[in-house]
Amino acid sequence: MRLKGVILAGGKGSRLFPLTKVTNKHLLPVGNAPMIWHPAWKMKQAGIEEILIVTGTEHMGDVVRCLGSGKDFGCRFSYKVQDEAGGIAQALSLGENFAGGEEMCVILGDNLFQEELGPQVQAYAAQGGGARILLKAVPDPHRFGVAQVAGDRVIDIQEKPTEAKSDLAVTGIYFYDRDVFDIIRTIRPSRRGELEITDVNNAYLQRGKLSFGMLRGWWSDAGTFPSLARAGELATQEPMPFPDIPRED
Ligand code: DAU
Repeated sequence: MRLKGVILAGGKGSRLFPLTKVTNKHLLPVGNAPMIWHPAWKMKQAGIEEILIVTGTEHMGDVVRCLGSGKDFGCRFSYKVQDEAGGIAQALSLGENFAGGEEMCVILGDNLFQEELGPQVQAYAAQGGGARILLKAVPDPHRFGVAQVAGDRVIDIQEKPTEAKSDLAVTGIYFYDRDVFDIIRTIRPSRRGELEITDVNNAYLQRGKLSFGMLRGWWSDAGTFPSLARAGELATQEPMPFPDIPRED
């Protein structure tokens, strides 16, 4: 199955101020590479070569300079501007033309992880449409979307609950079919004024079209000082290989 890829790299990065005073969060170093190279590389490893990057107006130039056309990665990168940080689902809605009715893998640009995505892509291909999310047991689930599962079904997802009903965080790695864009048109901004990806996933759940997998290996977001430091340590132990990327000494 040939999926398209979408990397969401907008948002304000305000929790990392002043590191984000003059640059975009996704350009900060994680291990031996800029943060955004990691999801791009994970997609390439999984055979996803047509990739849209969504980011805000302020640092779009630097993001393009950092990633280029995709030639060095063996991919084709396209770019789309998100004018305001209206939420993850709002950023994803900008990918409708790019997706062209095809299925896609979406990764949040501040998610770092160890597992190769090939088997997850195959699992999504086998389910025949709908959506698939990847879960990870964590010690601090209240920081994330939290999923409750029963057997092989997700029964509920709550965004940053005060009291988490499980320890299963919804990671920022998602698979969607074309219906995602119609669903985004139906959801309304949350209390924090954003179109939430959790509302999108719950809409798939209600349609009976949401599956889940467990993400193996380490996983970290990198949106706060502690998580950025942790992601850096984990990524440093396992430097990203750059087979096709010429070094500029
Ligand atoms: O990391 C996984 C978590 O990511 C999930 O468990 C949550 O369900 C999901 O809502 C999200 O939570 P965060 O509050 O950590 O998301 P944050 O606002 O930090 O945004 C994460 C990435 O999404 C960010 O690195 C870039 C992208 N984004 C975010 C916003 C708000 C955009 O591209 N545009 C946006 O407007």
